[in-house]
Amino acid sequence: MTRYLKPSVFTLSIIPFLFITYKIFFNKLGPEPVKEITHFTGEWTLIFICLTLAMSPLKKFTQSLFWINIRRMLGLFVFFYATLHLLTYVVIDYRFDWGPILDDVVKKKYIYIGFSAWLLLIPLAFTSSKKMMKLLKHNWKKLHRLIYVIAIFGSLHFIWLSKTIFFKPLIYTLIILFLLTLRIKFKKSS
Ligand code: HEM
Repeated sequence: MTRYLKPSVFTLSIIPFLFITYKIFFNKLGPEPVKEITHFTGEWTLIFICLTLAMSPLKKFTQSLFWINIRRMLGLFVFFYATLHLLTYVVIDYRFDWGPILDDVVKKKYIYIGFSAWLLLIPLAFTSSKKMMKLLKHNWKKLHRLIYVIAIFGSLHFIWLSKTIFFKPLIYTLIILFLLTLRIKFKKSS
C-alpha cells in the first residue's frame, strides 16, 4: 500500500501544472493570459510551501513517518512551481528584457522579496537528495530551515503585491504563522 503513496502524491502534485498547460494549449486563460498564469503558479507555490511546512507537525500528531517521506517531494514541487512562476515573469511577461526586470527587482519591493525567496530555494532544491543529507550531516537540517524564511518572504510578497492584507494574503499568512508556531511548540516540548 505505502508503495503507491509516493506516486499518488506525485500525480496529485503535478495536476495543477497539467491544468494550466491544458488552459494554455486550449486558449482558456481569459482576457489576461499572462496574469492568469502568474497568479496560478504563484498561488500554487504558496500552497506547496504550506503543505511542506505541515509535514513535520503531521508526523508528530500521527506518529507516522509517511509525512516525512513525502516532504522532500513536496519541497521540490515548491521549487518547480516557483520556477514556473519566475519563468512566466521573465520569459512570457518580459521576454528576457533584463533592463526592466532588474529595474523591477531593485524598485519594486514585492519583486525583490519574491526573487530573494526563489534564490533561497535553489540551495534547498540542490541539497534535497538523501546523498546530500548524509554529506551535510547536521548542517543539512540547519540549511533546510531556510524554508521558514522562504515562507515568510512568500507571504510578504503576496501582501505587498496585493497592496492590502485582505483577504487571501491574510489567510495564507495566518496558515504560515500557525504552522511555524506549531514547530516552536513541538521543539519546546521535545
Ligand atoms: C517563493 C517565491 C514566490 C511565491 C511564494 C510567490 C507567490 C505569489 C502569489 C501568491 C502571487 C499572487 C497570486 C494571486 O494573486 O492569486 C504572486 C504574484 C506575482 N508574483 Fe510571485 N511568488 C514568488 C516569487 C516570485 C518571483 C521570483 C517573481 C519575479 C521575479 C514573482 C513575481 C510575481 C508577479 C509579477 C506577480 C503578479 C503581480 C500582479 O498581480 O501584478 N514572484 N506571487
